[in-house]
Order: sequence, then structure tokens, then C-alpha cells
Amino acid sequence: MDGAARSLAVSPISGALGAEVAGVDLAQIDDAAFAAIHDAYLAHQVLVFRDQDLSAESYAAFARRFGTPAEYPFANGLDGSPFITPLIKEAHQISNFGGMWHADTTYKPDPPKAAMLTAIETPPAGGDTVFACQYRAYETLSEGMKRVLAGLRGQSSSAKNASALRTAHLATGTMTAAERPPEVLTAAHPAVRRHPETGRFALYGNRSHTIRFEDMTEGESAGLLEFLFDHQVRPELTARVRWEPGTVVIWDNRCCQHCAINDYDGHRREMWRITLEGEIPEAA
Ligand code: SIN
Repeated sequence: MDGAARSLAVSPISGALGAEVAGVDLAQIDDAAFAAIHDAYLAHQVLVFRDQDLSAESYAAFARRFGTPAEYPFANGLDGSPFITPLIKEAHQISNFGGMWHADTTYKPDPPKAAMLTAIETPPAGGDTVFACQYRAYETLSEGMKRVLAGLRGQSSSAKNASALRTAHLATGTMTAAERPPEVLTAAHPAVRRHPETGRFALYGNRSHTIRFEDMTEGESAGLLEFLFDHQVRPELTARVRWEPGTVVIWDNRCCQHCAINDYDGHRREMWRITLEGEIPEAA
């Protein structure tokens, strides 16, 4: 291990997932430091870096070390940096973006593997993001429930909560009123997915996008889905991130969910988001 990697300090932020990484300037990392960061990312699923001073270019360069930046469906990027989506809630606005538990865009056949946010402006209090570990969500199920889920695939639709999503996009400026209402995107994925890098099993489905199980009606699916949606975000499976300008967070969408807490009316919050292309989820 070289000097840069050796100076990294990784401190868990909850018993379930997430860690703060100190001793690194993300604008300057070398291959050895990145390898240590990547190991920590696979181990903790959510990494928090404080006091970073990243330009759009250095932020995109850091993201490219993890994968290929993707354009986010139904959202506009920064001028000149189309892969950076500004998520802005102005002081007078009510709706926020991502304010319901989800893994990103599971209505796509190849949902993003990861996403990152950089805090540009934060409210004096509130506006935290909460993450939930979907490895632990799976591991804490009974053996009987694991057997039930082994054969199931969840159908996601961008039409679920579409009006709330559109309101949030309009309110946060990630979509303008002149833009078409989004076409409906749908995709089915294993209810339990095998993480392609760690080999661990994670629950994969979420309250924002999953509407039913494949080959079942919404009515037949509803009871089990409701149980899972609640189970997936039990407090002991979560970690909460408090933002300050310069905080950068990356999370692994293949094994965690997130929810942006909308508790800061009257204050402005601006985050820059980068989404990284993913793969077709593999069944456990
Ligand atoms: C999101 O990407 O879902 C929003 C997260 C946040 O703004 O905290």
C-alpha cells in the first residue's frame, strides 16, 4: 500500500452500512488511493467524504473512476456537464426530489450501479439523506421467506408515483413545464439479486417503483410487497448522512436504498448528482 492509500481513515457511521472516509482529496487521488476507496465502497456501500472542493471536471473525473456516467431519465444536466444533474430545492418550494425510499430507476432494464452527490448549498438544519442496507434486509428474513422470494421477479414502472415525481422534477428544476410528460418505462428484476462484485445477496425492489411481481396481479402482490417495503427500511438497517457544503457521497444502488428527507422548508438546498451506468441484475 502506498502513502496515499495508507493515509485513508475509514470510520463506519452506523451498524448497518455507510462509512466516512477521511484523509483524502478526491481531486488528487492516485490509483492506489482509488483502490482503497473502492474496497471501502464494496464493504460499506455508502461512503461520505467531507470538505471536498471539486470543480465539475474533477467531480466527473472521480465518478469516471467508478464507472460510466449516465444521463438521468427525465432530468436535465448542467450546461457543459450533461452528466451532472443539479437537484435544487428553492426556499419557496415544497416538493423535493427523491423524497420516497428507492433504488434508482429500477424501471430500467439495466438500472444504475451507483450514484453520487456533492453538496453545493445546504439548509441550516435538516435535508439529510437516509440509506438502507439491502444485504441486511435480505439476511434478516426468515429462511421460509427467502425461499418464497427466490423465484420472484418484481415489476417496476416509472408510472408509479409519476405525478409526485413530475411535481418534484418541476419544483426542483430538473424538468421544465415545457417538457413532455415522461413516457412510461417498465422492467422486471429478481426480487433478490446477486451483487456482481461482492457475490452477496440483496433485496431488490422498492416502494417508489415496484408495482407487482411478474405473472401476478397488483392485488395478489400487494400484501407481500407492503411487508417488504417496510422491512427494507427498518431503522436498524439504515444510516443517516448530514450534509455540509463540500460533502461528497457515493452509494451502491445494487445493495442499498435511499430517501431524501424533506424537512427544511424555507431554505435552499442544492446538490450535484452523477449517476453511473449499471448492468442487468442477476438473480441470487
Ligand atoms: C436522490 O438522488 O434520490 C436525492 C437524494 C438527495 O437529494 O439527498
